[in-house]
Amino acid sequence: MTAVPFIVGLGGTTRPGSTSERALQVALAHAQAQGCETLALAGTQLPADIFDPSRPERSEAARLLVDALRRADGVIIATPAYHGGISGLVKNALDFTEDLRDDARVYLQGRAVGCIVCAEGAQAMGSTLASMRAIVHALRGWPTPFGATLNSGAKPFGGPGQPADAAALKACEMVADEVVGFARMAAALRALSR
Ligand SMILES: Cc1cc2nc3c(=O)[nH]c(=O)nc-3n(C[C@H](O)[C@H](O)[C@H](O)COP(=O)(O)O)c2cc1C
Repeated sequence: MTAVPFIVGLGGTTRPGSTSERALQVALAHAQAQGCETLALAGTQLPADIFDPSRPERSEAARLLVDALRRADGVIIATPAYHGGISGLVKNALDFTEDLRDDARVYLQGRAVGCIVCAEGAQAMGSTLASMRAIVHALRGWPTPFGATLNSGAKPFGGPGQPADAAALKACEMVADEVVGFARMAAALRALSR
């Protein structure tokens, strides 16, 4: 890691006004305010092609995603709950981490992964957060202890004449804090062991 942590955010949906994309932007803006370099890959910026382990060719979007994750010091994922789990778009993006399988730092190893879920029902918030954490564990990442679950039905980021909900903003910022804190801790440990 360089002196400036590089935090990659992925998620959102292709829906205009996506709540999960907004949540991702809030979290990344908070990381940036703490001196991090950030990159958001959201909605249509995520690979539209389905990950196929038998095909080595990669779309530009897939190449950009894999390269960013390879360099990342921390990751933030914001997904909607689709039928009780993470969306196909976000899961497909994460499947491309297979390209990091043979790296010295495999998959998301050694990185904190901030977890944000937007859903309309409490049941899906819980099940989607749990499944996201299981995926992050499979990728050797460290899911943040605090996971943000936002009720999109309550318009957490406001609307015409309606302010954003302070608790929702705070939740996204707390996720960012944990990712940035872990990245700085990991860098300090590496410096100590040099
Ligand atoms: C295909 C689909 C499936 C959904 N399934 C669930 C669900 O199982 N539980 C839930 O609480 N909300 C569900 N929702 C609502 C979304 O999680 C919610 O509207 C979310 O904010 C959408 O993300 P976005 O605002 O980033 O587009 C679903 C929405 C869609 C389009």
